[in-house]
Amino acid sequence: MLTGEEGPAIRKSMKILTALGDIYDSDGLIPIHSAHISGISLKTGGEAALKFVENLASEGAEVRSHTTINPGCVDLENWKKFNVSEDLVKKQQRMIEAYKKIGADPTCSCTPYLIGNRPPCGRHLAWSESSASVFANSVLGARTNREGSPSALASAITGLTPRYGYHLDRNRKGSVTIIPDGKLLGEDETWPYSVFGYWVGKKFPNSVPVIEGIRPNSDQLKAMGAAMGTSGAIALYHVPNLTPEAVRNPSLCKTEESVTFGLEEFEGVVAELDQTSEAELICLGCPHCSLDELRGLPKVSQKEVWVCLSRKLKKEADRKGITRRLVKYGIRIVCDTCMVVAPLPEMGYSSIGVNSAKAAHYLQSLTEIKVHFKPIRELLG
Ligand code: F3S
Repeated sequence: MLTGEEGPAIRKSMKILTALGDIYDSDGLIPIHSAHISGISLKTGGEAALKFVENLASEGAEVRSHTTINPGCVDLENWKKFNVSEDLVKKQQRMIEAYKKIGADPTCSCTPYLIGNRPPCGRHLAWSESSASVFANSVLGARTNREGSPSALASAITGLTPRYGYHLDRNRKGSVTIIPDGKLLGEDETWPYSVFGYWVGKKFPNSVPVIEGIRPNSDQLKAMGAAMGTSGAIALYHVPNLTPEAVRNPSLCKTEESVTFGLEEFEGVVAELDQTSEAELICLGCPHCSLDELRGLPKVSQKEVWVCLSRKLKKEADRKGITRRLVKYGIRIVCDTCMVVAPLPEMGYSSIGVNSAKAAHYLQSLTEIKVHFKPIRELLG
């Protein structure tokens, strides 16, 4: 592959992977179950990313494993209903076409594990969306590093990834135990888990945290992991008696350090992320919503609300009659994109309400938009 015998696209891809392997002192390459690629949005990846993928496609690149892709910057079927430039839409369409040409599934979602790219426990992956990587490692027990989009793409094309980091048993052991006050996390919202995860990522950015005394559902785990991977570089956590590796091997959860998370820590995160009580637009679905999250949405009063999710799940929601009810409630279903990678400032918004610490963090750091950070019922009430 490296000498170019299998063509220039494979050679380029293998160069990326061997360089990475050298940097991290990898002992070799291993086959992957699947790849998931970020950097799809023209707003964040820009034209350089578009040219890179188009060049690979023109050189005959083809994926060798199941490959899904992250959201782009527009709803590809309904972009005319939003205030976005046609030029941007055309470039975004070119990006998706290039990915289709190399054989990727044009999912445009950060929750590939909800729509068919759901690896079994123990399989090796090359996933480059941080919220998806932490879900795959922790909730599914699969094994991936937090890839960048070029390395995930290179792995998709070669079917291989360098073995280091979270592919190795020795790096999957818990390093710190955190005991949150259960009353703060509640039972039915994802927001408190997002607050908690953000604190964990900030306090222990390079750890494998073990979270004791909680019994979250899948959506709460999704929210917690996404927040950990935003404020820190966390790619794996364990919940004793719940997450698969912790169940199979409880000794992974034995750590030497233990800390608590209480009201003061909780309020500190909210004070940092909740900047305003105004919100011209409420955006839910970071990471993209599951069907259960959609089903649980209440009626909206007089507010513009977007709910972001994958197009595949939207189709399922259409069939089940969920979409019809939500549209009647005044909710707009938005696919293929999200509140962070869509050009919201250019669309004229200056304040946004979100229930996700990840969305709050990136809207604040990447745009001038003011963020209202609260649980769904308070945002929609
Ligand atoms: Fe997904 Fe966008 Fe959030 S890609 S994790 S909804 S920032």
